[in-house]
Amino acid sequence: MRIDIVHMGAGKLSYEIRNIIRVAEKLQQFGIKVNLENIGDPVAKGERIPAWMKEIVAGLAKEDSSYGYCPTQGILETREFLAKLNNRNGGVHITPNDIIFFNGLGEAITKVYGLLRSTARVITPSPTYTTHSASEAAHAGQLPVTYPLDPSNHWFPDVVELRRRVKYNPSVAGILLVNPDNPTGAVFPEEILREIVEIAAEFDLFLIADEIYQNLVYNGRKAKRLADFIGSVPGLAMKGISKELPWPGARCGWIEIYNADKDPNFSRYVQSILNAKMVEVCSTTLPQKAIPQIFLHPEFKKSLDERRRRYEKLSGIAYDRLKEIDGVLVNRTNGAFYMSVVFEDGALNNRQTLDISIPEAKALVEELTSDPSTANDKRFVYYLLAATGICLVPLTSFNTELEGFRMTLLEPDEAKFRKIIDKLVTSIRVYLDSDKGEICAVPRPVAP
Ligand SMILES: Cc1ncc(COP(=O)(O)O)c(C=O)c1O
Repeated sequence: MRIDIVHMGAGKLSYEIRNIIRVAEKLQQFGIKVNLENIGDPVAKGERIPAWMKEIVAGLAKEDSSYGYCPTQGILETREFLAKLNNRNGGVHITPNDIIFFNGLGEAITKVYGLLRSTARVITPSPTYTTHSASEAAHAGQLPVTYPLDPSNHWFPDVVELRRRVKYNPSVAGILLVNPDNPTGAVFPEEILREIVEIAAEFDLFLIADEIYQNLVYNGRKAKRLADFIGSVPGLAMKGISKELPWPGARCGWIEIYNADKDPNFSRYVQSILNAKMVEVCSTTLPQKAIPQIFLHPEFKKSLDERRRRYEKLSGIAYDRLKEIDGVLVNRTNGAFYMSVVFEDGALNNRQTLDISIPEAKALVEELTSDPSTANDKRFVYYLLAATGICLVPLTSFNTELEGFRMTLLEPDEAKFRKIIDKLVTSIRVYLDSDKGEICAVPRPVAP
């Protein structure tokens, strides 16, 4: 090309959650039966869509208006419904004009960061959901600016460190929270959330709260909404239907904007997000029409309760087994459907292996891990995948230096989940010991 046509931030856009599927697909061709524990799609994992929900969607598919464009911000009746829902719960009040719909939160995330001035940074948690850190880094063409979530303290944000990093980095204009959190499954306590608001107020920042897992909370916890604790600080909450209905294929999410009137600069920024959406016309119509009907359906709460109970149970099973392993740090999860496990410092190295019985699979993993700069946890994940078929995501791909992995709690078959956890626990032990003597074979799981 006459001039370089690649965006400065292009190298920042990578998504290991899906990259690993390509490796899994190759391994499947060699006859390995893969269990996908990497992707947060309840439907792909076999959760059934309730008949009443299908009837609502089928009914809407029979209406001509479902096939047309809708207003840029989203269908007015749905925004009125959502604003009312927010206001009924107290906290900051919003109007339908404070809501903008997108084609999935993924789109909202790329627009929210993409429309920031390139020198204005949003400090993101570490680890965090890659779409946030990668989109933020791509907008700035720089490495992400991060604050730690502490695995030794239930994965809560280290607010002392957050304050320090905000104070000494004047380009930070906003703080991101993901609550309940992906990838850790943590639900943050109100005191910590209020401290984060104080930092934002002190340094004149705005807040972003990704609340896509807002209603997927268990163990008796409740996730506080940004609207509950933001006070008069400007901010926006990100919400959607991919996880809670679940309907990720709808590609439907929205942002709720709080206190835009309190800061003219924030208000202009929000207007630019809306203008960008206007250039694109609008988001998909039919899922927006379905939202009030689904949320108001008498079976909706029941189906959410049933799913929460299932995640709580699987979380307990995984936690009780994984915490027994020397050399790993695991926290009980309280929300979303992920668990992140950390290997203690020095537990992993680039000599550890698992026995891979299929020669082609072994050759592939050896090739994929031959680069000495391969992260140790990525190496573990590849060996585990080829040796057992369990497909996890390395923790270092969530924008952290902590080595570990993220797994999902989505398996609908509890007996199968127990077998996967058994196999995982055994494999971790074998892997960690594999450089201490002979390379051991992973024991096959006991048949139920
Ligand atoms: C924290 C978080 N935010 C946003 C998204 C994207 O959701 P959507 O399907 O609405 O694009 C995900 C998907 O996994 C997520 O985990």
